[in-house]
Amino acid sequence: MRLRQTETPLLAAMQHYVQEEVIPFHTPGHKQGKGMHYTLEKLMGRDTLALDLALMEELDDFHEPHGCIKDAQDLAAQLYGADHSFFVINGTTGGIYAMILAVAGPGEKIIVPRNAHRSIIGGIILSGAIPIFMQPEVDNELGLAMGVTPEMVEKAVLRHTDAKGVLIINPSYYGVATDLKKIADIVHAHNMVVLVDEAHGPHLRFSNRLPMQALDAGADICAQSTHKIIGALTQCSLVHCREGRIRVPHLKAMLQLTQSTSPNYILLASLDVARMQMALEGTRLIERSIDLANWARQEINKIPGLYCFGAEKIGSPGIFDLDPTKVTVTVKGLGLTGPDAERILRHQYKIQAELSDLYNILFLITLGDREYEVNALVTALKDMAEKYSKSYDFSLLESCINAPYPIAPQGVLSPRDALFGDTCMVPFIHSVGMICAEIVTFYPPGIPLLCPGERITQEIVDYCQLLQQGGMHVSGPEDYTLKTIKVVD
Ligand SMILES: Cc1ncc(COP(=O)(O)O)c(C=O)c1O
Repeated sequence: MRLRQTETPLLAAMQHYVQEEVIPFHTPGHKQGKGMHYTLEKLMGRDTLALDLALMEELDDFHEPHGCIKDAQDLAAQLYGADHSFFVINGTTGGIYAMILAVAGPGEKIIVPRNAHRSIIGGIILSGAIPIFMQPEVDNELGLAMGVTPEMVEKAVLRHTDAKGVLIINPSYYGVATDLKKIADIVHAHNMVVLVDEAHGPHLRFSNRLPMQALDAGADICAQSTHKIIGALTQCSLVHCREGRIRVPHLKAMLQLTQSTSPNYILLASLDVARMQMALEGTRLIERSIDLANWARQEINKIPGLYCFGAEKIGSPGIFDLDPTKVTVTVKGLGLTGPDAERILRHQYKIQAELSDLYNILFLITLGDREYEVNALVTALKDMAEKYSKSYDFSLLESCINAPYPIAPQGVLSPRDALFGDTCMVPFIHSVGMICAEIVTFYPPGIPLLCPGERITQEIVDYCQLLQQGGMHVSGPEDYTLKTIKVVD
């Protein structure tokens, strides 16, 4: 019998088990809250704790699903238009690890944008694959990395015809989308797999005012953070795939490898319910978020000293489309840095942003927001702009950002070999010619200058020193002063 989107088969099975009042001689040891310290028990509530269950026949097998978990996953696949969907309780990080492991093994090439999230680099380290990096476009006004273009992808696949796949981040944290459809056509024409890090896109399917979702653009596999943008609990994600270029049994094996053998059923049930919510109300909820975000953007752009980029940026390099629910406020016009403004908003106005970078603060408008919250944000930004302006001097920094970018270093070892080989720390200025064993990234724009396995050049050392003199923030190396660097011994 075909299940309906109004149903939540996994939650229903869990509730049935609890209603039966079974005496549990199984994990978890707190036995539905009874053995738990009262501090935690009170906090979480007996009703919730009763649902903290374990794998058993009637609750299906997470790694070989054939019952209620399979039904719940099939409903997700039906909703998103996938051939198969998989629940992930290890964050999108876990999903991305599995995706990469399923496509590229040790010594095999995978093409990725250089500003890849650390989960992508992590997946590459785990698999032993060889990353071929594409340098994304950068918007110097915003100090942000944008997307990769179809032209860049075409160049990369033509140079590396033996690559197994191309991984695209779409949309970015800041809502910037690439021309994924065109990219997918190019990649498929070369018989490679299209993988998409869609951490920031589980809501795209529910409005035609949003960029196209990965599966609709032709992606073979994608990972979405259901927890980041829609209603599932933190750590919950979905991996969707199409049959053909993905070997589904192999993908399942890789999902087993990257996930617990004791999945948290409350997390799993939250995926089931979040799917049902989106099926029934997704369009209304997402349309409302878009309206709220567009209103906020319009009001923020009336505030002197602030800028919130929007549709006017579409068409500039690396911006094919935009998710308007990501509200990026550029505060440098106030002479404030993003972290300055983030702290002011948190402590003076009780408003917490998603993140800040040197020039910007990012606010997410989701199905959890109403007019009240968005009004409060706009009012706080107005007040902050009137009261707090500093005179942070960005000029040195801007001259650094505009300095010619060094030629990408040559990869000579896989990141895994570099990381797990013998390594030692050497003075950074004496590291030219050696093989780097860590990531060196400067913010803005957050694109690594060095990755594990790459040969360090004089040009890169000079450029890093220039950025440090400009006061830019370095992230990644063990020695964050970058006086020394870890290299392959
Ligand atoms: C682009 C991108 N990909 C992947 C991830 C990893 O997602 P998760 O935190 O769910 O593991 C993140 C998290 O911020 C992200 O921004």
